[in-house]
Amino acid sequence: MISKEIKIAFEEYSTLDQLNSSDKDLCLEAVKAMGNSHSPYSKFRVGAALRLQSGKVIYGSNQENVAYPSGLCAERVALFHWGANHPDDPIVSLAVTAHTNEFSLVKPVTPCGSCLQVLAEYEQKQGKAIEVMLYCQNGSIWKTCGVQCFLPFLFFEDRLK
Ligand code: THU
Repeated sequence: MISKEIKIAFEEYSTLDQLNSSDKDLCLEAVKAMGNSHSPYSKFRVGAALRLQSGKVIYGSNQENVAYPSGLCAERVALFHWGANHPDDPIVSLAVTAHTNEFSLVKPVTPCGSCLQVLAEYEQKQGKAIEVMLYCQNGSIWKTCGVQCFLPFLFFEDRLK
């Protein structure tokens, strides 16, 4: 038996001003995106912003439904909008933020498994990793270099060959 270890690297920033200006702006765009969250059931508002290579920003926010499973996370709303409307303009980075009046969020919110799987699909499709910034307005910012940081054992398309 060989015991193996995978290390996951990410960066932590304590304020937005420590980020480069494009990352900082994208975090603020995620806050803007959160304004259109439809979350009457969870009261948990999430905003996502994608920066494309052209400089264009795509917005997403969580959209809930009285039939709960019909709702969708902010990340996938933004990612599917990209896939349907801007597939030839590669995604450079994604910023996510969240807010609730129910309690104070002290750590960044991390994307769910389904959103990570969609992120993985589009990284594969465009052949380039997508940086992810997770912005907690009362806490820190985590920056990762892409889905590999979250899912190191991801199922890749090449396994099908
Ligand atoms: N949610 C997101 O939009 N993104 C995440 O990364 C985590 C969870 C949404 C789904 C649901 O509308 C609410 O947050 C509570 O789970």
